[in-house]
Amino acid sequence: MARGLFILFEGCDRSGKTTQSTRLVEALNSQGIRAKLLKFPDRTTAIGKMIDGYLTQQNKLSDEAVHLLFSANRWEVMEQMRADLESGTTLIVDRYAFSGVAFSAAKKLDFKWCKAPDVGLLAPDRVFFMDIHPDDAAKREGYGDEIYEKREFQIEVRVKFFTMMDNSWSIVDANKDKDEIHRQIMALTSKAFAKHNEAESPIKKLWT
Ligand code: TMP
Repeated sequence: MARGLFILFEGCDRSGKTTQSTRLVEALNSQGIRAKLLKFPDRTTAIGKMIDGYLTQQNKLSDEAVHLLFSANRWEVMEQMRADLESGTTLIVDRYAFSGVAFSAAKKLDFKWCKAPDVGLLAPDRVFFMDIHPDDAAKREGYGDEIYEKREFQIEVRVKFFTMMDNSWSIVDANKDKDEIHRQIMALTSKAFAKHNEAESPIKKLWT
């Protein structure tokens, strides 16, 4: 049986990742493709609850400590992710280690240090970067509720994302109409499936 694909959505805050990743899972399921949505941080676990408290400014943590918690929050589901992929389920993931590095490096933590705890996680097959200028994101509903939703900081985060891109990334203009973005994502996903069906590659590890 073919393994599932690991498709990741990354981007700055309020770029539409959650909307588009949810729509993609629904569309794949309706085509009979088994797909599951995962979101990081997963705020439901014990580690996730500490992260949530930090993001909503109910508890304080050092930049280093919260960085390591975000990473641990990925490691705690890694074996489940592997099992899903190996059993043929496609994973659509809303944020991952690239967010981890982009946000912490934007706080001026050392870039190499930021990458270290996530080395060896499962690597995505394709990354869709939902690109929006922070000035446009700031106009979206609910912006500013969480600790990182500040213009200057988001501009720094966006720059950090660009330094991590390789040819597995596609940049999606997140300022377009939602339906148009969905169609573009469907086209990119079909291409990824076609390539995968032609020559299935083993699941790679991140930054090794
Ligand atoms: P969310 O809005 O997608 O739930 O993400 C919450 C915030 O956490 C968002 O501002 C990005 C940030 N973040 C990190 O700083 N490090 C990480 O590893 C992840 C996954 C998110």
